[in-house]
Amino acid sequence: MARVPLTAVVLAAGQGTRMRSKTPKVLHDLCGWPLVRWPVEAALAAGAEKVIVVGGPDRAVEGHVPDGVAIAVQPEAKGTGHAVRCAAEHIGADDTVVVLYGDVPLITAEAIAGLARAHADAGAAATMATTVLDDPAGYGRVVRDAQGDVVKVVETKNPGDATASELEIREVNTGIYAFAGGPLTGALASITADNAQGEYYLPDALPILREGGHRVVAHGVADPWLTAGINDRAQLAQLREVAQRRILDEHARAGVTFVNPAATTVDVGVAIGADTTVEPGCVLRGATRVGEDCRIGPNATLVDARLADGVTALYAYAVDCDVEDGVSIGPFAYLRPGTRIRAGAKVGTYVEIKNSDIGEGTKVPHLSYLGDADVGPQTNIGASNVTANYDGRTKHRTTIGANVRTSVDTTFVAPVTIGDNAYTGAGSVITEDVPEDALGVARARQTNVEGYARRKG
Ligand code: UD1
Ligand code: MG
Repeated sequence: MARVPLTAVVLAAGQGTRMRSKTPKVLHDLCGWPLVRWPVEAALAAGAEKVIVVGGPDRAVEGHVPDGVAIAVQPEAKGTGHAVRCAAEHIGADDTVVVLYGDVPLITAEAIAGLARAHADAGAAATMATTVLDDPAGYGRVVRDAQGDVVKVVETKNPGDATASELEIREVNTGIYAFAGGPLTGALASITADNAQGEYYLPDALPILREGGHRVVAHGVADPWLTAGINDRAQLAQLREVAQRRILDEHARAGVTFVNPAATTVDVGVAIGADTTVEPGCVLRGATRVGEDCRIGPNATLVDARLADGVTALYAYAVDCDVEDGVSIGPFAYLRPGTRIRAGAKVGTYVEIKNSDIGEGTKVPHLSYLGDADVGPQTNIGASNVTANYDGRTKHRTTIGANVRTSVDTTFVAPVTIGDNAYTGAGSVITEDVPEDALGVARARQTNVEGYARRKG
């Protein structure tokens, strides 16, 4: 059989007023992607050669879908049939066209491929994905003929749309279809808005196709989550639970341990290596990458962070930073953008590091702030060391060499350089460079006022 090009049309021009939000519905986040990106990615994974998102005149979806996805504009929301018509210029006569919704995110590549296969097997011009609901209120009901082919869909939102016996039907239109491109665009040209809502209904193309001698069939979809739509934020929360579970299950099958999946958030784009354990309370967001044999959490938040193998991150918050093999972070550490922690280093408790390079095997164990610093390998930073990196106008760098031992409460007033093997004295405010092998001490000498307490009397 000749391969038929698969084209996906994703409808995303509806208003979404029930979200009660300044943000358009299809741009609300679901596990790291805006809603609309989910069906787009599923279509691409199913092998769609063309994906067209039909958006509203605000062009809100631009920049929120992968490169190569076309955006068609529906100037006014005049119904699902009108929306597909707005994408007509992208639809080839020989294409198989799959219609998806921008607010139905959990459809999978397998479900799309299954629909396309059923469509090809039936030799139909339209194949509608349907499901049977206990409470079908509000959905379009599927009317079949004696052979089981689809006659039409009856809308039920407005009184007068459906007859009493049609309202008994529990098989509903999921809104997802496969069409033969040429017949679809032909039929869409002749649908009308002659109905209770005054809209151009996409399902109205079905009887037109039948009259034209084409077959219209239904394809049952059993898993209700695949076709579940989002109208408000309560439904968004329900679907997030399902989407999150899918993401975690996929990682778990690839060798990741989640100690408490219900207390773990992992975005769709995150990568995690095998034999890594994620303890409860972790949030892994964006483009975060975690290597193998890591121990993440409890309570670690990683945002666009890159962790290599064998890293431990307890009670940590790390953003846009690189952490090399065998590093230990936390408990209670904050790694900020532009930070690189090299292999075997340690960033301990109550430590904040920003835009800094911490050398191999170097330790920053307690209560320190290093900002805009370059620290060489095998150095030990004493407790409560602080870089004074900001003079009120500009940031300056602090350079600390290899194998340095700084004592507690050292302040580095940048720009300043500490040479290899150097030391600092406790409580020093270092304003001048310390040469290699030297001890830098910068503090007042102690005076004891004898008998002070008695005199104070
Ligand atoms: C539609 C179907 C109904 C089906 C139901 C499943 C029609 C007429 N009815 O009803 O049979 O049971 O889906 O959920 O198709 N959209 C646009 N432009 C528009 C109108 C809608 O892009 O002018 C988009 C919406 O953003 C949404 C999707 O199309 O993603 C469905 O629109 P919606 O108004 O929710 O359709 P329903 O009335 O639910
Ligand atoms: Mg709807």
